[in-house]
Amino acid sequence: MITYNEAKILLSDNGQEQILQFWDQLDVDSQEKLLAQIETINFASINVMKDLLISKDEAGADSEFEPAAVIDFTEDERKASVEVGEDLLRSGKVGVLLVAGGQGTRLGFDGPKGAFLLGPISNDSLFAIHAHKIVALEKKYNTEIPYYIMTSQVNDAATRSFFEENDYFGLSKERVTFFVQGMWPALTPDGKIILDRKDHVFMSPDGHGGLLSALDARGVIKDMKIRGLNTIFFFQVDNALVDIADPAFIGVHHKENSEVSVKVCAKRDPSEGLGVVVNMNGRNAVIEYTELTDEQKNERLPDGELKYKYGSVAIHVFSVDFLEQESVASLPLHVAHKKVPYCNDAGESVSPNEPNAYKFEKFIFDAIPHAKKSINVVFAREDEFSPVKNAEGEDSPATAKRDMMEKFARWMKACGCGIPRYGGDGELIFKLEIAPDFALDVNDMKRKLPGNFTIDGDLLAK
Ligand code: UTP
Repeated sequence: MITYNEAKILLSDNGQEQILQFWDQLDVDSQEKLLAQIETINFASINVMKDLLISKDEAGADSEFEPAAVIDFTEDERKASVEVGEDLLRSGKVGVLLVAGGQGTRLGFDGPKGAFLLGPISNDSLFAIHAHKIVALEKKYNTEIPYYIMTSQVNDAATRSFFEENDYFGLSKERVTFFVQGMWPALTPDGKIILDRKDHVFMSPDGHGGLLSALDARGVIKDMKIRGLNTIFFFQVDNALVDIADPAFIGVHHKENSEVSVKVCAKRDPSEGLGVVVNMNGRNAVIEYTELTDEQKNERLPDGELKYKYGSVAIHVFSVDFLEQESVASLPLHVAHKKVPYCNDAGESVSPNEPNAYKFEKFIFDAIPHAKKSINVVFAREDEFSPVKNAEGEDSPATAKRDMMEKFARWMKACGCGIPRYGGDGELIFKLEIAPDFALDVNDMKRKLPGNFTIDGDLLAK
């Protein structure tokens, strides 16, 4: 481990001596812990962050852009893509990658967000809902689907034990790989690293874009190659509706020789906080909602549609070769002004009421312009996207449960079942849940359901 004298030189070379401010008050254990933490800090990255604070030259929409082209399948195109995707699944070339390292601050749940219980009747957790889909896919296509889960130091141990306690939700343990993303310090406005305790530097996860360097650092790319994968389906933990390893999406990615593919849907309204897909200097990209002007957000085409209509919902397919290339490439940094707990000069820990520091994050979609070929594929949001972000209101557990049940109700209606509702077209009277093992899509459902019956109580099909 780094010695005290080495740490002192390193910190003074980088203008961060304040980290050792309480050294003389620490016992030997605490001193060792602090040295170990200092050793993990990449000061080259910290200096880039400092420069960014000074220059305010953040990544994003500094050049001209236009709305990106999108693929909106005809029924025949969808069928052709499904065939290609199903072949890929059967041949065992597809892996699934989940980013679950976030802190879930807005939801305010005590534990990894994936442990949040969401099944409308089963009370299954998000992790269980996703895992059951993978188990069902493996059965349907008689295949093996390796599952990679990115955690962070904030929730790694809790995530692993949640999987252990639940027997991996029926997944084959041998095909599940957990790996942790990196952590970064926060900086004061004048670029100083912050202690939150006398012996501890405040750190937080480096954003979902931290995935790329973690894939390299944790040997995940190597594992993907050893297992013979060429296609990776990527999603976020908070979307219960996600159609994991959707054959149409994987298929079109493959047919189009795309390196990264993006699922897009029409924005709910101009102010919805989705990043929009654009073409910038001949390359596809996603621009964060906050980087569009109000005029751009509201601009309409002659037919009345929003000019920047399509948003990315962070469902992607990546080629393994592209992930390998990007795992050693650098992504731009995004900066956010946040409330960060700190240790005052008296050595007391303080939780500020106002933003006092800057946190830095990398975003996965910043890799998209690096692709030689990337595509945007339109999907129906009501079938595949309903994230759990907030405790209440929009994008909350209540809306996600409602949207899950409405999706199942559409499947059942397509099978000829009667679905009673309040006032005829209001809310569902009974709760509905279809386990992935019973049906992964409406076609599975049509094969299983007798049709022509009306629901007269809560229904959990499994
Ligand atoms: P969000 O940006 O919604 O963040 O993450 P969050 O941490 O879940 O929630 P808030 O913003 O604190 O309320 C979108 C997805 O990216 C993952 C999350 O776990 C989620 O699946 N993520 C986010 C990471 O894996 N690492 C990060 O550093 C940030």
